[in-house]
Amino acid sequence: MYFSLKFIFYVIFLINSILCYDPPGRFAHNSVIINNRLLILAGWENRSSDQFTYELFYLDLSKSFDNTDLPWTLIPDGNLPVYTWHSTAIVSLDNSTIFQIGGFINNKHTLDYDFSKQVYTYDYPTSKWNTPSIIGDNIPPRQQMKGVIDNLGIIYIFGGVNTTNLTTFTGLIYNDMNTLDTSSMTWKTLSISKNLPLPNSDYSASLLPNGIIVYIGGQESIDWTLANMKSIKLFDTKKLEWSYMNATGDDVDSRWLFSSVLTPDGYIIIFGGCTQIYTSVSPNLAVLDTNKSPYEWSIPSNSKANSPPSIYGHSANLYFNYMIITFGCYVDDQLFNSQVYLYNIASNKWVTSFNPPVPTTTSTSTSPGTGSTSPGTSGTSIDTSITSNGTSITSTSTLTAKKSLKFAIGLGISIVVIVFLL
Ligand SMILES: *[C@@H]1O[C@H](CO)[C@@H](O)[C@H](O)[C@H]1NC(C)=O
Ligand SMILES: *[C@@H]1O[C@H](CO)[C@@H](O)[C@H](O)[C@H]1NC(C)=O
Ligand SMILES: *[C@@H]1O[C@H](CO)[C@@H](O)[C@H](O)[C@H]1NC(C)=O
Ligand SMILES: *[C@@H]1O[C@H](CO)[C@@H](O)[C@H](O)[C@H]1NC(C)=O
Ligand SMILES: *[C@@H]1O[C@H](CO)[C@@H](O)[C@H](O)[C@H]1NC(C)=O
Ligand SMILES: *[C@@H]1O[C@H](CO)[C@@H](O)[C@H](O)[C@H]1NC(C)=O
Repeated sequence: MYFSLKFIFYVIFLINSILCYDPPGRFAHNSVIINNRLLILAGWENRSSDQFTYELFYLDLSKSFDNTDLPWTLIPDGNLPVYTWHSTAIVSLDNSTIFQIGGFINNKHTLDYDFSKQVYTYDYPTSKWNTPSIIGDNIPPRQQMKGVIDNLGIIYIFGGVNTTNLTTFTGLIYNDMNTLDTSSMTWKTLSISKNLPLPNSDYSASLLPNGIIVYIGGQESIDWTLANMKSIKLFDTKKLEWSYMNATGDDVDSRWLFSSVLTPDGYIIIFGGCTQIYTSVSPNLAVLDTNKSPYEWSIPSNSKANSPPSIYGHSANLYFNYMIITFGCYVDDQLFNSQVYLYNIASNKWVTSFNPPVPTTTSTSTSPGTGSTSPGTSGTSIDTSITSNGTSITSTSTLTAKKSLKFAIGLGISIVVIVFLL
């Protein structure tokens, strides 16, 4: 009896650990949430070589997990058609499509830069990548920018860099506003002449429910200095007008390569980032209250305990009360990591385990896109039965070369074990 129980546990453990994907660290990637999946795509895998990534994989947010043992799942059919990093990814309003836009784009076979197409779409229900035909204005090649989508399905992309020398990575920063109407698939470079902001890249962009996009930080102007975090750029998507605000409150170091999430009650939480010479910035985490006028910065008192190390080039997504930080580069050793950090926005604490907000019903179909009824990032309160608060900073070893082998051997073993059990 004891033996067979132990054996079954062993088998379950084996299958679980085997079917999980073990992604290598990465930098300047994208992450989006569709229904209850946090999907990761694009990015740069290895600083010391031109090793980029085209895999698409996800964390299932309907299940609990610990950030030291992440149950990533690879979508084998989801490989991106190109390599791209420092790009932006936006989900369509109906959650059917990921719009992957811009970045440093390389042909997967020749590794040459190829900016001939700027927009790729991923159809979530069928796991297929497409190169859609887009009408309207010419799509300018851009890197280091971020898009947001409004409730009419229009994606707004402000400025960014057009790198013209790909050896020295030099180019120009822009201050234009480009839009992609996702229903008519029309690209438009808005003609605005009044009140234009300084050219800006690597900012954070948050669309407030009132239609205002809040742009913070990043590199500015033609001399590439970092923007003051209190000098906020506002774009009104209803009037198509720029305005500016000087935020008040705590001081926040200028930064780029940081992340932001917008909470349902109007707080923009920024995390990480670095100086222009890739050193750390302070504080690691800060909150901008957009309910106040002018907006106000503050540093939550709990947010320093168990705070992750300084990282940049990571990404952040909000899922109910969890701000989920994925991958990026450590300031300390300048290595790309594959870590996930979890910040509970209700308790303002870093935590190590994720617990889904609603009890998951009996194993529903996991086919992508179809019939998922998971409630999203809404303001509903959730259970926060978080038991552990320590933050592990041990980076999991990156197994670039071994991952597929591990999967194959693992699958082999588990099949053998299952056969044996039968
Ligand atoms: C990154 O690339 C360098 C140079 O090609 C190589 O020596 C190193 O092993 C790579 N690191 C990883 C984690 O793949
Ligand atoms: C961007 O750079 C390319 C060269 O790589 C150039 O041909 C193009 O005109 C530039 N476009 C814009 C809008 O800056
Ligand atoms: C890029 O810059 C380098 C160094 O200044 C220069 O040698 C090279 O010709 C430039 N390449 C292009 C395509 O302008
Ligand atoms: C922000 O402060 C600067 C410096 O004091 C001032 O020049 C600028 O006009 C202010 N901007 C706004 C929008 O109030
Ligand atoms: C899309 O997914 C998000 C994230 O879970 C969710 O908040 C939203 O309600 C979903 N939208 C639709 C139309 O299913
Ligand atoms: C964090 O957890 C430890 C036990 O692991 C506990 O002693 C400590 O009080 C907790 N701290 C907070 C802020 O919850």
